[in-house]
Amino acid sequence: MTDAANPSQSAVGTSRAAAWDPARYLRFAGERARPFLDLVARVDAEAPRTVVDLGCGEGALTASLAQRWPEATVTGVDSSDTMLAAAAAHAVPGRVAFASGDVRDWEPAGPIDVLVSNAVLHWVPGHDRIMARWAGWLSPGGRLAVQVPGNFRAPTHALLAELCRSPRWSALLAAAAPDPDAVLSPAGYYDVLTGAGLTADVWETTYLHVLTGDDPVLAWVRTTVLRPVLALLGEDDAAELTAAYAAALREAYPQRPDGTTLLPFRRVFAVGSRAS
Ligand SMILES: C[S@@+](CC[C@H](N)C(=O)[O-])C[C@H]1O[C@@H](n2cnc3c(N)ncnc32)[C@H](O)[C@@H]1O
Repeated sequence: MTDAANPSQSAVGTSRAAAWDPARYLRFAGERARPFLDLVARVDAEAPRTVVDLGCGEGALTASLAQRWPEATVTGVDSSDTMLAAAAAHAVPGRVAFASGDVRDWEPAGPIDVLVSNAVLHWVPGHDRIMARWAGWLSPGGRLAVQVPGNFRAPTHALLAELCRSPRWSALLAAAAPDPDAVLSPAGYYDVLTGAGLTADVWETTYLHVLTGDDPVLAWVRTTVLRPVLALLGEDDAAELTAAYAAALREAYPQRPDGTTLLPFRRVFAVGSRAS
């Protein structure tokens, strides 16, 4: 992974044109919450006082951290105005607060006991160096927990990359094609954490999401990998690309006789611990 791994995605990932849509994102709230919960379940901090959620999104999961650790003050940081507007509903005076910031350059006021970043770093090229910086902010006994999608080689992403690089779209979209190197391998995250002086617990899980309705995989990717691509197109072009992508997705993820569609989704988890 390099800084140039996917410049277009990093640029549009937080732009106004590619604004996050909390309502659409929450359509799959259960499926998206599970990796967060599985990640946090492996964070064995007992009574952290300072908890930070970088790239917090619409805030419900951030607020759950205050329930998990009742003595903690929890801060969620995100660069999306739309996500932060939704997150405001989860603020709890003195316990849970949200702030606008870019995870690439946000800095804490002091040491952090637990730093969580769930489903964010795949938008951030060069995040191995950013994680090393985050590790340096941990208090003794502090924990750094990240989760990233590990599905950049799955049909959802490979088919979109193929379309973006096709003769029809390459002039507009080649640079926005999903990059298989946007995330590290599990061993790569192990090296980042141990290289920063932490002990590391790294694992991967493939969830089998059971989706329903017409074109449910398209609905899933609309809020994620497809979002920054469509942001580069006018309405007619967006409709044309979406139709071609939907047809390819239907073939790769066929609807089953009972009306369900199965979406295997690999994710990579990494928890680093600083010695007490
Ligand atoms: C897939 S959502 C995940 C939200 C939340 N962590 C969760 O688990 O539901 C990705 C979030 O990362 C935020 N994000 C992406 N790049 C960012 C950056 N450079 N700085 C701050 N937030 C960023 C987006 O605005 C979005 O809210």
